[in-house]
Amino acid sequence: MRPGSDQAGDPPAAGQKAGPAIGSPFAITGLDAWHGDLVAWLDRLDWLRTLSDRLTAVLGPVRERHQDNLVLELMHGGRWVGHPIHPALSDLPIGLWTGVMVLDAMDRDPAPRRGIDAAGMLSAVGILAAGATALTGLTDWTVSDDEDRRVGLLHGLLNTVALGLQGASLGTRMAGRRSTASALGAASLTVTAAAGYLGGHLVFTKGVMVNRVAWTVGPRRWTRALQEADLPDDSPTAVEAEGRQIMLYRHRGHLYAIDNICSHAGGLLSRGPVADLTVTCPLHGSRFALADGCVSRGPASQPQPVLPTRIRNGWIEVRGSLPAPRRPATGRKQP
Ligand code: FES
Repeated sequence: MRPGSDQAGDPPAAGQKAGPAIGSPFAITGLDAWHGDLVAWLDRLDWLRTLSDRLTAVLGPVRERHQDNLVLELMHGGRWVGHPIHPALSDLPIGLWTGVMVLDAMDRDPAPRRGIDAAGMLSAVGILAAGATALTGLTDWTVSDDEDRRVGLLHGLLNTVALGLQGASLGTRMAGRRSTASALGAASLTVTAAAGYLGGHLVFTKGVMVNRVAWTVGPRRWTRALQEADLPDDSPTAVEAEGRQIMLYRHRGHLYAIDNICSHAGGLLSRGPVADLTVTCPLHGSRFALADGCVSRGPASQPQPVLPTRIRNGWIEVRGSLPAPRRPATGRKQP
């Protein structure tokens, strides 16, 4: 972990990964590594870093001021939806604009037509959907960090270019210049695909907005976590049991144990404040009830796992989730 960082997981040590030079995005180390090299090169672009820092300086305080706003939480997807809504919304403009290309390819009528036809309608609805997608993406972007934030910014900029191209396509289509509109629409979809690639990198490679504790289990049996005498009252304390990071908290003699890695993006909950038996993540402000892990404020959309505790021989012991018991096969008789 970086000194002073509130996030779990160590970044690569300096010099650990030999990335390509700034002027060489294609210093390919192998077919399976080109995407990593490309993203590392993008992340080193000075103008992208500067723009990211400036936008963060503007949007960060705005977000903090409105952190309790339910609309903001809903834009993430939040606890009501159970997962982020930005990826789902992004399917709409892609699908609608693909429909525009298909209609254009099938159109055999060379006569110029002004106004809005079926392809134009799809293009317009896609533009509206892209606007909503951009708003939810921008909201998610404000709770990203480091490289993810810069790659996310490039993802957003490319999508903005795609939106502009699609708008120009719609304008020329309504003016009756269909071949120009088709070309601009194809260019828009191409840029959208490039932006989508970066979005895929963020989710599938970096796990942005993915539940960080989805696979957390164990310890499989009662395991000593801390001597009872070493746990101060009303003070979040980080412990480890069989490799699982846990936050212990004792209030009026009642013990609480909750996974220490924030389900949103891996912040360490033990470094956040606790009030009314609710812990606030120090990274982006998600709040979790200590008793049951429920989210009372996003951006986290998944509850935080809680662990049962007991005290034995002066030790606080914890136990994690047990694997679901195997059910005997039902239905057809086995031969
Ligand atoms: S890491 Fe983002 S709210 Fe906890």
